[in-house]
Amino acid sequence: MQNSQISSDSLPQHIAIIMDGNGRWAKEQGKPRVFGHKNGVTAVRKTINAAVRLNIKAVTLFAFSSENWQRPEEEVGLLMELFISVLSTEVKKLHKNNLRLRVIGDKTRFSSRLQKKIQDAEQLTANNTGMVINIAANYGGKWDILQATKQLAQKAVDGELTVDEISEEMMTQHLTMSDIPEVDLLIRTSGECRISNFMLWQLAYAEMYFTPIYWPEFNEDSLADAVSWFVNRERRFGCTGEQVKALMNNQ
Ligand code: IPE
Ligand code: IPE
Ligand code: MG
Repeated sequence: MQNSQISSDSLPQHIAIIMDGNGRWAKEQGKPRVFGHKNGVTAVRKTINAAVRLNIKAVTLFAFSSENWQRPEEEVGLLMELFISVLSTEVKKLHKNNLRLRVIGDKTRFSSRLQKKIQDAEQLTANNTGMVINIAANYGGKWDILQATKQLAQKAVDGELTVDEISEEMMTQHLTMSDIPEVDLLIRTSGECRISNFMLWQLAYAEMYFTPIYWPEFNEDSLADAVSWFVNRERRFGCTGEQVKALMNNQ
């Protein structure tokens, strides 16, 4: 185990969040589901501000899964409209704050208007050096592994590498977000305790934090609570607790 792997007394570098519970939150108030999605944007803003203050390097937010296309057409349409309008209003602010925005997922299924908005936002913020915000949209963990596998298979067919040369590192390099560290802390709101096809490879050693709070009510304090919980975890990466303590004492 490398010293760099021990972070039980340090902050997470990469936090991933499954922002769940918008619909139930709205329903509890007798409002349509889209009211929950709109209020979810406020929670995103609060979370980003809090993460910047905590000096987190990267935040990945699950906004729309590859399975979410199965929802009623009206809800999907409204979510796409919301995505476009949020990109229009927020990107300049993010850029001013030196934040980098990226959208991960299969973007080809989006309208050309949305694809253009995404491209513009990514280009505008590409050279910013502050926190990276990854929005996972039309993203699926299985899709990510599949697209990496196809790239590697193509390289093998083209004679650029042999099958034996394919390694975990190479696989990692071909996944989306290959340039940022794997997830340290996964947060899922709304009381559900599942991954729902979010990042599968990159969550291999993530600490998992499940909170009953519905996403629209998640705020700066909620993020701080999750990070405080994380800081007190002992991450062992397959070693024993004694080995971890010995390494910590030698640091
Ligand atoms: C998460 O909230 C947002 C998206 C998946 C787009 P939900 O819409 O899943 O809310 P619930 O789970 O139905 O309450
Ligand atoms: C996961 O939430 C996807 C997002 C938060 C974008 P879902 O609400 O779609 O997950 P399931 O279907 O309940 O597992
Ligand atoms: Mg849900």
